[in-house]
Amino acid sequence: MLWITLLSNLFVAWFLAAADATTLPLPITKKGCQDKCGNVSIPYPFGVGDDPICYEEAKFKLVCNTTFDPPLLFMEGDNSVPIIDISLSQGQLTLLLWISRQCHTINGTVTDDRFYLTLNLTDGYKVSNTRNKFIAIGCDTRAILRDTSGKSYQTGCISYCTDVNSIIDGSCTGIGCCETAIPKGVNAINILFGSYYNHSYSWNFSRCSYAFLADIQWFKFNVSDLLHFPQRVVYKHMGLPAPPVVVDWGIGNLNCTEARQYVCGQNTYCSDSENAPGYHCLCNQGFEGNPYLPDGCQGTSFGVLLVLIGSSVLFSALQKRKLMKSREKFFQQNGGMFLRQQLSSHDHSVETVKIFTSEELKRATDNYNEHRILGQGGYGTVYKGILSDNRVVPSRNQR
Ligand SMILES: *[C@@H]1O[C@H](CO)[C@@H](O)[C@H](O)[C@H]1NC(C)=O
Ligand SMILES: *[C@@H]1O[C@H](CO)[C@@H](O)[C@H](O)[C@H]1NC(C)=O
Ligand SMILES: *[C@@H]1O[C@H](CO)[C@@H](O)[C@H](O)[C@H]1NC(C)=O
Ligand SMILES: *[C@@H]1O[C@H](CO)[C@@H](O)[C@H](O)[C@H]1NC(C)=O
Ligand SMILES: *[C@@H]1O[C@H](CO)[C@@H](O)[C@H](O)[C@H]1NC(C)=O
Ligand SMILES: *[C@@H]1O[C@H](CO)[C@@H](O)[C@H](O)[C@H]1NC(C)=O
Ligand SMILES: *[C@@H]1O[C@H](CO)[C@@H](O)[C@H](O)[C@H]1NC(C)=O
Ligand SMILES: *[C@@H]1O[C@H](CO)[C@@H](O)[C@H](O)[C@H]1NC(C)=O
Repeated sequence: MLWITLLSNLFVAWFLAAADATTLPLPITKKGCQDKCGNVSIPYPFGVGDDPICYEEAKFKLVCNTTFDPPLLFMEGDNSVPIIDISLSQGQLTLLLWISRQCHTINGTVTDDRFYLTLNLTDGYKVSNTRNKFIAIGCDTRAILRDTSGKSYQTGCISYCTDVNSIIDGSCTGIGCCETAIPKGVNAINILFGSYYNHSYSWNFSRCSYAFLADIQWFKFNVSDLLHFPQRVVYKHMGLPAPPVVVDWGIGNLNCTEARQYVCGQNTYCSDSENAPGYHCLCNQGFEGNPYLPDGCQGTSFGVLLVLIGSSVLFSALQKRKLMKSREKFFQQNGGMFLRQQLSSHDHSVETVKIFTSEELKRATDNYNEHRILGQGGYGTVYKGILSDNRVVPSRNQR
């Protein structure tokens, strides 16, 4: 008879996790560094505080301002654009950027004119051109997005309507709402408004023009936005509506081919940043965690599970062939060798899978003593095995 034993700390970890459904969270920061501000996680390469060990380079030094309640996370030297999320896998972060608006009285005069939308990110960050759009709402609205001087680029859109019934929920195509893509490489912007008739032909259902950058996954136009858009924005900063905007970042300013040394830890690979300068680190397949920490990427229980399933599949195939040959002979000549070859062709499984003969297993499991049973299932019975060197292993009796 053939026996297979899955042996490794990883498997034990997976087994225990499956048994009581708890796993220890992996660290996201360097030792001793603050990992949260309010409820926003701060994974390395980002960090707060003055200790330079906590952030990878100056552009990733953030400030957690506790005068706000809850505390808010900002880039250094900024108090107007709070960061609400940092994504390592996308190389992006999400911040809140105020909307701009311009409103008119029934007479056409401008009552309210707020050019809140100005953004001045440092060179290491770029507004994501794939995740955001520039959006304007209003029925007599020209909105222009440009760099702070207006000299290197200007873009924008126009929305015009005189009949409220022509406006369609969810459709941002120039009737009540318009949107435009933004170019790559943008990090400083402001906004200008214009109108044709001071909203005098639409004043009953649209009195203001609103313009903002927003994550396209967040924004969906609603007819009621013409009058009530600011109230609908759940994200606020200092009481003012501030939609989420996605910003790209990267390590250093060289791409993967140019950079000689990477800050990436073990079990990672380098990926070029598409918009911001620099590169990203990502965990190899089957690993998860923070790829910017030296040992941040850890094998996942899912990866181990794959090894388990893979070896089960291989195993049943082998069992069919087994009928032809005597068991011990088969193990010596085909199955054992074949299995070993198969297993050692998978990088990560070499240490995680070990094949035992029935004699070794009998000893390890105290002749399949029922007190040693850890679990039973479609995969067979799992015994607690104790090897001659006193290591404890889960041992599976294949049915
Ligand atoms: C915490 O984050 C959640 C979303 O992840 C958000 O809905 C909530 O408002 C945040 N709470 C505070 C106190 O910021
Ligand atoms: C925190 O925010 C307040 C209000 O904007 C500001 O006055 C203060 O300087 C900020 N503190 C830090 C450490 O940036
Ligand atoms: C609008 O104009 C009329 C007269 O032209 C004036 O009586 C009224 O006060 C104005 N309303 C506003 C809100 O400016
Ligand atoms: C719109 O209002 C501005 C001042 O608020 C005024 O100068 C301009 O003439 C008005 N235009 C129209 C078309 O009413
Ligand atoms: C943007 O910030 C840089 C420094 O980071 C500063 O030199 C520049 O004047 C700022 N531009 C505007 C328009 O505020
Ligand atoms: C706006 O509504 C008022 C009544 O509510 C109406 O008298 C007026 O004609 C409407 N104006 C337009 C431009 O539709
Ligand atoms: C628009 O807003 C109204 C009122 O808030 C809501 O009932 C409706 O479902 C919204 N439509 C869409 C398409 O989200
Ligand atoms: C890396 O940067 C160099 C110099 O800017 C460029 O020639 C090269 O095409 C880039 N490589 C990739 C993969 O983008």
